[in-house]
Amino acid sequence: MRRGSLVQLTLFAIVAAGAGTALALLPNWLPEPASREAGRIHFVFWFVTGICIFIFAIVAAVSAYAVLKFRRKPDDDTDGPPIHGHTGLEIAWTAVPAVLVTAIAIVSAIVLAKDDAAGANPLRVDVVAQQFAWSFHYGCKEGARGDPVNCTKDSPVLRLPVNRSVVLRMTSKDVIHSFWVPEFSQKQDVVPGIHPTLHITPDRIGTYPVICTELCGLGHALMRSQTVVMSDAAFQKWARTGTQAGQAGGPPVQGQQGRALFTSLGCTSCHTLAAAGSHGTIGPDLDKLVTYAQKAGKPLASFVRESIVNPGAYIEKGYPNVMPKNFGSQLSKAQLDSLVQFLVTSAKKGSP
Ligand code: CUA
Repeated sequence: MRRGSLVQLTLFAIVAAGAGTALALLPNWLPEPASREAGRIHFVFWFVTGICIFIFAIVAAVSAYAVLKFRRKPDDDTDGPPIHGHTGLEIAWTAVPAVLVTAIAIVSAIVLAKDDAAGANPLRVDVVAQQFAWSFHYGCKEGARGDPVNCTKDSPVLRLPVNRSVVLRMTSKDVIHSFWVPEFSQKQDVVPGIHPTLHITPDRIGTYPVICTELCGLGHALMRSQTVVMSDAAFQKWARTGTQAGQAGGPPVQGQQGRALFTSLGCTSCHTLAAAGSHGTIGPDLDKLVTYAQKAGKPLASFVRESIVNPGAYIEKGYPNVMPKNFGSQLSKAQLDSLVQFLVTSAKKGSP
């Protein structure tokens, strides 16, 4: 091969590598990682992308060179010279990809193993998915079917301390959902009847979305929450305060029980209600229940009860009919009573 050809090939390869690198780096393909696991996954991503750019540059350079150099001349109908194999070349194009693919496999296996292992003294959080809300529970015991019970703290938002290993244990109350925080780079299907886990070590303070990535019904696209990664001190402070009803001394007050249910059932992720401090906008604004009941022409208490047991009975304009039809069936009579009472009381307080 002449020196001129080599120079030309090298130039093509540099241009192709430049184009490939620009395409990889310029658009913001991935969110900035916010966990150690995500950092490792991003390393694999860039490792593989680098190899791809290298191979692409070689293939593109040889193709471009061949197209330009060996293109048919006008009126040339002859066949090209017959060429038999080139042993050296064949060994090279078999051995080099074999080495690269093996390297990718080894790097991926190491990262998978590291990401699957919990660190020392992990914090356990129970993630509960239901149509169409996430709820997060701390300090739970395992009930008969492995569902979280007797939790010390429930939250509609996933709060995590920075730089501590976390084991998320998943529970679904109805259908298959999938837990995804883009900044954590990991997804986990939440399948009814089993309790898969996911290990995360958040390493960047901030607020990131929690998204359901498994089509789970009409409200799937609305099934979102947030994860807040906070300093360890702030997390400890949050964990100590405002635990659910029935903590120190005496039986739980009715209103408190209703409020705790409102939070633990995930109502807060869809509904705004001043008394519960929630700002959801997917479902109707529950501070306006008095007005809604008037529009529906029903007494407030029976309107609230009907809307929980049969969410499709009255649809407030401007809101999708996505509340699960079986929502009421997961409540005991006493729970339904205290939820209705809590909503009626806070609605009356909220109305002018
Ligand atoms: Cu839950 Cu989609």
